[in-house]
Amino acid sequence: MSTPALELRSVTRRFGGLVAVHDVDLRLEVGTKRALLGPNGAGKTTLVNLISGVVPPSSGEIDVFGVDVTRESGRRRVGRGLARTYQESKLFAGLNVQQNLMLALAGAHGGRWRPFPGGRATRARRERARELAHRVGLANQCGMLADALSHGGKRQLELAMALASEPRLLILDEPAAGLSPSERVMLTELLDELDEDLTLLLIEHDMNVALAVADSVTVMVDGTVMFNGTPGEASDSQLVHDIYLGSAHV
Ligand SMILES: Nc1ncnc2c1ncn2[C@@H]1O[C@H](COP(=O)(O)OP(=O)(O)OP(=O)(O)O)[C@@H](O)[C@H]1O
Ligand SMILES: [Mg+2]
Repeated sequence: MSTPALELRSVTRRFGGLVAVHDVDLRLEVGTKRALLGPNGAGKTTLVNLISGVVPPSSGEIDVFGVDVTRESGRRRVGRGLARTYQESKLFAGLNVQQNLMLALAGAHGGRWRPFPGGRATRARRERARELAHRVGLANQCGMLADALSHGGKRQLELAMALASEPRLLILDEPAAGLSPSERVMLTELLDELDEDLTLLLIEHDMNVALAVADSVTVMVDGTVMFNGTPGEASDSQLVHDIYLGSAHV
């Protein structure tokens, strides 16, 4: 078997007496697109935090492209090709789209942000920022303040910022949350157009978005993986339906 993009072995995370993630095994082959579903409090964001190095596991190991990163900083993991978005917005509201993207590019390449930049490197970065904006459908909004973007526009910008580091493994934490039906269609198309080689872990409550983009589905409940299968198997699964009908989600 080839080296997977991501492998979790018996990963557990406790917060005091609460087991937020319990003994999770997960393996994502390179280029696969996995949807991670589950009701509120299932442990999805905690799992993303564990993979991206925001919190350490209580036990278990995490490999990224065959390297054990369990004890590595989040920054080193970015260097290994990992990028993620956050459930709550991390945009700089008072900066425009291009400035947000230039900050993301500076961060991705370990550079410093200079308030009055000049020179060839900056021009190249500005060009890259424009390309990223174009890639997520924001080419005409480069000069718009992030705060003035529609909700969907903000999500598109967050996706572009995650793509700034040219990740090989991308984790999106509920990118469709709060979007209108038409914005959801737009986002689904963007996700569908992502590179074939890019490995994707998509946390999503909206089954329509998840099943349209993903080639496999994992369902978590109370910190535990309850289901692994294809989108078709997830649609047909009584367990998956019960979990969704039993949860307070829309
Ligand atoms: N830093 C923390 N300290 C204490 N408890 C936490 C912490 N982070 C998460 N938890 C708890 O862990 C459990 C899982 O939370 P998590 O945010 O991972 O769920 P989720 O599946 O992402 O939910 P949602 O769908 O609402 O985003 C919850 O009970 C939450 O309160
Ligand atoms: Mg969450």
